[in-house]
Amino acid sequence: QELKLNLEQIEKGGYEHFMLKEIYEQPRAILDTFRGRLKTDQAIIKMVGVEDNMKKFLNANRIIIVACGTSWHAGLVAEYIFEDLARVPVEVEYASEFRYRNPVITENDIVIAISQSGETADTLAAIKLAKSKGAFVFGVCNVVGSSIARETDAGAYTHAGPEIGVASTKAFTTQITVLTLMALRLARAKGTISSSDYRHHLIELELIPEKVEKALQSDNNVKTIANIYKDAKNCLYLGRGYNFPVALEGALKLKEISYIHAEGYPAAEMKHGPIALIDENMPIVVIATKKGHYEKVVSNIQEIKSRKGKIISVVTEGDTHVKELADHVIEIPETLESLSPLLTTIPLQLLSYHIAVMLGKNVDQPRNLAKSVTVE
Ligand code: G6P
Repeated sequence: QELKLNLEQIEKGGYEHFMLKEIYEQPRAILDTFRGRLKTDQAIIKMVGVEDNMKKFLNANRIIIVACGTSWHAGLVAEYIFEDLARVPVEVEYASEFRYRNPVITENDIVIAISQSGETADTLAAIKLAKSKGAFVFGVCNVVGSSIARETDAGAYTHAGPEIGVASTKAFTTQITVLTLMALRLARAKGTISSSDYRHHLIELELIPEKVEKALQSDNNVKTIANIYKDAKNCLYLGRGYNFPVALEGALKLKEISYIHAEGYPAAEMKHGPIALIDENMPIVVIATKKGHYEKVVSNIQEIKSRKGKIISVVTEGDTHVKELADHVIEIPETLESLSPLLTTIPLQLLSYHIAVMLGKNVDQPRNLAKSVTVE
């Protein structure tokens, strides 16, 4: 027993929980995802699984992304980036719905299955269905040699390293990294991105690991905020555009490990329902970074303020406007809008982590949840 405990402590590398360790591993994990693929000096992205099947990618009528849980949220981010840069229509489906609803799939569709474990039963079944209809299936997995990695026609590993905490953190950011590389590579091949814009993206992408490092420095500030709101019964997360999926993911993280009811919403949808819930007891996390609908999000913040909601805002370094309105601000470095989910998600992971720890919950193994769901 003692030996087992010591072993676990060693595995946690000085961190109190695997989840915290994995949150802090993200700069390194993203670098590992880049390795051999991102060659900024030559303005090249090299991904064997994509290169080998470039014809299929170029001829695809649409991309269908299938996944569950956090991986599904990474898929939603990918939808924005593939459509924005590579101008290909994308649909993102819950694997569990897709597999049972007689979906229209053709040989000109590409199905991208995203799965950390590579073992999720619904995602695996969705792949089999897509293959039986003749679609080309591409896997984005973390676990090497997993069932989904083997079942797919081609793929790209995330190389995040083992993720032990049930709540997914570094798997999420590395999935987004792989999908961003893919979208950029495809955009370049299709000519839907100019060479200067492409280079700009590569340069900014390469800076992401050190910016994640900086975003992690918000930890103490986030911990203070966590202490104020740890007893909340409900929490709302809002974001727009690329950061709408981040709002969903932030809410999922809080639910999973602290058991506080949380919902993510596109900020503009607030007026169609969630606004009715806002009072002085409601904390609302708003992603309000400079690029991407900033003014619109600011007016959402004003609407919350006039209803006395408590505003916790994730902003771009140096922001002064939101600071005047929000109860708390968390600063992250500036980047391109398309890359911002890789940074905005960091403080939200830390927020849920600290709240769960303060509430005495089992952070790494939350009740009723499993790391990999191999049954329906
Ligand atoms: C479970 C895990 C989640 C994960 C989801 C999908 O619910 O608790 O963290 O996002 O399964 O798992 P996958 O391995 O397919 O990414």
